[in-house]
Amino acid sequence: MERPGHSNRTQTKLRHKAGGRVKRARDSQGAAGRSKGGRARAASSPGAAARGARSAGGAGETVDLIIANARQLITLGRAGQHSRAGQDSPRRGREMSELGIIEKGAVSVRAGRIVDVGPSREVLTKSWLSKHGELVDASGRVVCPGFVDCHTHAVFAGKRAHEFEMRLQGSSYMEIAAQGGGILSSVRSFRKATAAELAASASKRLNKMLELGTTTVEIKSGYGLSVEDELRALEVVKSLSDSHVMDVVPTFLGAHEIPEEFRGKKREYVGNIIQEQIPEVSRRKLAGFCDVFCEKGVFTVEESRDILKAGVRHGLRPKLHAEEFARTGGAMLAAELGAVSADHLLHASPADVNALRDAGVVAVLLPGTSFSLGLGRYADARAMVEAGLPVALATDCNPGSSMTESMQMMVTLACVEMRMRVAEALAASTINAAFALALGEECGSLAAGKRADIVVFDAEDYREIPYHYGVSNVCHVVKNGEVVVRFGRLSG
Ligand code: NIG
Ligand code: FE
Repeated sequence: MERPGHSNRTQTKLRHKAGGRVKRARDSQGAAGRSKGGRARAASSPGAAARGARSAGGAGETVDLIIANARQLITLGRAGQHSRAGQDSPRRGREMSELGIIEKGAVSVRAGRIVDVGPSREVLTKSWLSKHGELVDASGRVVCPGFVDCHTHAVFAGKRAHEFEMRLQGSSYMEIAAQGGGILSSVRSFRKATAAELAASASKRLNKMLELGTTTVEIKSGYGLSVEDELRALEVVKSLSDSHVMDVVPTFLGAHEIPEEFRGKKREYVGNIIQEQIPEVSRRKLAGFCDVFCEKGVFTVEESRDILKAGVRHGLRPKLHAEEFARTGGAMLAAELGAVSADHLLHASPADVNALRDAGVVAVLLPGTSFSLGLGRYADARAMVEAGLPVALATDCNPGSSMTESMQMMVTLACVEMRMRVAEALAASTINAAFALALGEECGSLAAGKRADIVVFDAEDYREIPYHYGVSNVCHVVKNGEVVVRFGRLSG
């Protein structure tokens, strides 16, 4: 199988195509910042890399990786700013359609961070490729920032395909849940599974996500529902974060459902979350966010407020499952608390949308859930974009309502079912999704100083990404500067 651009022949061809030159440094810096079993990790701070990029000037900069000659390099950078970190905010309204495309573009990388982004001729002229550095030829292809999957429940045990079939025969998600299926059935499976089993199955999911172009993922707890089991879930998330090349962001979701042992004693369970779960999660530094399933028949607005405020007191920033099956006031609560994101929002009203916008909350839309549950209803993304509310997309990967790892599929659904423009859907699944995790300065766009999380698509135009659906259009994936997927397959 051809490797992406290691051969001299490829380099000569590239130089020729770009009209620039590729210089190789005498001393390799290729190993800088390598850890975690040889995978590249960021060794320098974003600021340092950005300073490096700026100081490169005509003198040249030694880099470990260059992706060159992209037919379309989708930077997602703001006009005139695509090589600057530190000045970013979520895209809203018309800005969501501005992809910052550079034709025949290139991106160079050192020690896991982006050094330079621009026309290939310029980037190649400024760059010295280290001795063991790699040059990837992206001719005829589209290059984008890696997807940020900002809402998943990817640590779970057991599957619920039988519930999928029950829904096909007419039962609703909430009816199945009321009969003891749904989240509670996953709680039973989770409690029986060992940490090693949970980590192994989740790791496979992360591999699949990586192959599909996702380079950062949020994972919620929420199938443990006791102090011990919620901590276990978050310890598994931490172990994945330590061992897997994917960047993993942990969210505490002890308020996902009321566990069987607290049936009829919801107030006691809310007390358990506030007095025991949150303080312990915070003490062990196992999560940065606290989420609640604020929904009719699950947690009320008042309970959600109490839980999220307790989270804030312990340093956990609020997120919310809001207005998924019914309008309960979750969106207004997210606005009131200045949550980082409000997620689902199928039943959000125009007033909710305006309140979220004014409070600086990111709307995380999960079209896979509407699709897989056959709800026949999607969040009104069009109205949100037009109202100036920043919209993000995520898979909601979970065994009940959205069993998928594919952000590419979310982009297709967002376009077809929620009438988002392709450019909007791409901004929603990269830069805005990064902001939904408070990581907008770190990933989600191609800019100097940011993590080198990059996807090369087998597509000539970015619109092919959702248009050619039901398959993966991913060719290569670069994570923290390392090519981890080659020709659609995990390498190594
Ligand atoms: O986001 N709504 C609550 N949580 C998930 C579903 C989890 C499950 O069914 O296991 C969701 O859709
Ligand atoms: Fe969810």
